[in-house]
Amino acid sequence: MKLRFPILVTIFFIGLDTSNSTSKNKFPDYFKFGAATASYQVEGAWNEDGKGENIWDHITHTNPTYVENEDNGDVACDSYHKYKEDVAMLKDLGVDYYRFSISWSRILPYGVTGSPVNKLGIEYYRNLTQELLDNGIEPMVTLFHWDTPEPLQELGGWPNPEMEEHYAYYARIVFEQLGDLVKIWMTFNEPKQTCLEGYGKGVKAPAFTTTGMADYKCTHTLIKSHAKAYHIYDEEFKAKQGGRVGMVIDTVWFEPASGSEKDAEAAERAIQFTYGWYGNPIILGNYPQVMIDRIDERSKQQGFAQSRLPKFSEEEVDYIKGTYDFVALNMYTANYAEWKEETDISDVGYDSDLNVHLFMDDSWEESASSWLRVVPWGLRKTVNWLSKTYNNPEIFITENGVSDRGGIDDPQRINFYREYLSNLVDAIVEDGVNVTRYTAWSLMDNFEWGSGYSEKFGLYSVDFSSPERTRTKKASADYYSQVISTRCLVD
Ligand code: NOJ
Repeated sequence: MKLRFPILVTIFFIGLDTSNSTSKNKFPDYFKFGAATASYQVEGAWNEDGKGENIWDHITHTNPTYVENEDNGDVACDSYHKYKEDVAMLKDLGVDYYRFSISWSRILPYGVTGSPVNKLGIEYYRNLTQELLDNGIEPMVTLFHWDTPEPLQELGGWPNPEMEEHYAYYARIVFEQLGDLVKIWMTFNEPKQTCLEGYGKGVKAPAFTTTGMADYKCTHTLIKSHAKAYHIYDEEFKAKQGGRVGMVIDTVWFEPASGSEKDAEAAERAIQFTYGWYGNPIILGNYPQVMIDRIDERSKQQGFAQSRLPKFSEEEVDYIKGTYDFVALNMYTANYAEWKEETDISDVGYDSDLNVHLFMDDSWEESASSWLRVVPWGLRKTVNWLSKTYNNPEIFITENGVSDRGGIDDPQRINFYREYLSNLVDAIVEDGVNVTRYTAWSLMDNFEWGSGYSEKFGLYSVDFSSPERTRTKKASADYYSQVISTRCLVD
C-alpha cells in the first residue's frame, strides 16, 4: 500500500506533463522564435548624430549604379527614428527575441583603435534594447553585419591583419556599454559574404576582385578577430554579465547530384568550403583539411612560394578552437553538387580551388532572388550535417526566409515558412538535432544589398515612397504569429 500511491501519482503527472512534448508539428516548449534585421538595411540616418561613413554609404554615394535602381540605405526603413514602431511590430508578432545589428560607424565614427566613442550612437542602441526589454523581447545582437567603417577600408579593410585590433577595440566598447542588457552576441554575420563577395568576387562592398587571395586573407583576419572578441567577453565580461557569444555562418545545402561517390565527395567538399571555412576553425581549431590540402597543392603547382590559404600557428589554433557558445546558421536554399574533373590549374580563384559544379533544379520554386529557390528539405539536411559534423551542438537558426516582389497578401511566404518549419520540427523531434531557436528574415522589407529595395523579405511591408516609411502587416506575419503562440504548425 505504501508504494502504490506514489506510483499512481507519478503516472498521473507523467500523463499531464507536456513540457517536453514531441508530437509531430509541435515545437518543444523551450524553443524560441525571433525575427531579424541589420543596421545598414533598416536604420537610415546615415550621417545623423555623429555617425561616420561606412563602406555601404561610400559605395552607394560614389558609385550609385552599383545597386539596382540606384537605391541606397540613407533612409532605408528609418528605424533610427521609428524603432519604437519596430518594437511594437515585434510585440504584435509575439516573438521571443529580436536579432538586430550594431553599426560600428555609429559607435566609432572613425572606426580605428583609440578613436572617440559617439555617445549618441550608444544611446540609440541602449534605447532600442531597453524598449525591447520593456516589452518582454530579448535582444540578440550582431556586432558586424557587413558595414565596415570606411576609414578602416581605407587602411585595407579585412585583409589587413590590423583589423583584429580595431575590431577588438570596438567589441570591448559595445560589451561595456550594452552588456548589462544584452545576453546573446553574434560577432560576425555571414563572414563568407564579407570575404568572398566583398574582397573576392566584388559583388558586395567594398567590391574588390582578388578571388583566391584577399578573400582567404580576409577570412584569416576575421576569424582571429572573432576569437579575440570571444576571449575578451569570456575573460572580462562573462562572469558579470552572463551572456553567450557565437558567429553567424551561412550555407546553402549541397545535395549530391547523383548517387555516385564522386558527387557525394563534391557535395561534402562544397559545404566544407562554405560552412566549414569558418565553422571548422572556431569549433575544431583549423580550416577543413580538404581546403588546406587542395589549396596547398594547387598553390604549389601554380608556383606560389607558400599556400594562398594562410596558416594558423599552433598557439593560434589553441586560441581559436572552441570560441563558440552555440552554433548559428543562416540558411535559405540548396544547390546540387556535381563532381568536376580538375581543369585549368592556372586559375587561382576560390571557385577553381573548390572545383565543384553547382546548380539548382529548375523544378524548385523560384523567389524574387535569383540565388534563392524554395527547398525546405535542405534545412533538415543542413542541421543534421551540423549536428553530425560538430558533435551535436546547440544550434540557432539565425536567418531563414524568402523574397518576393511585394504585396500584403503573400501566400508564397506563408508556404515557405510552413514547409521549412515543418522540416525543422522533423529535425528536432525525429532526428534529435538540438536546434533551440528560429529567426525569420526579416521583420520588414528592407535594403537588400545589390538588389536595393526590389527584393522584399519582410513580414511587414514598408512603403519606401512615403517619407513616413509606413509599415503594414502582411498575411505571413499573422501566420508566423500563430505558429509562435501555439508552438505548432498550423495549416
Ligand atoms: C543574408 C544576410 O545576412 C541579410 O543581410 C540578407 O538580407 C539576407 N540574407 C537575404 O539575402
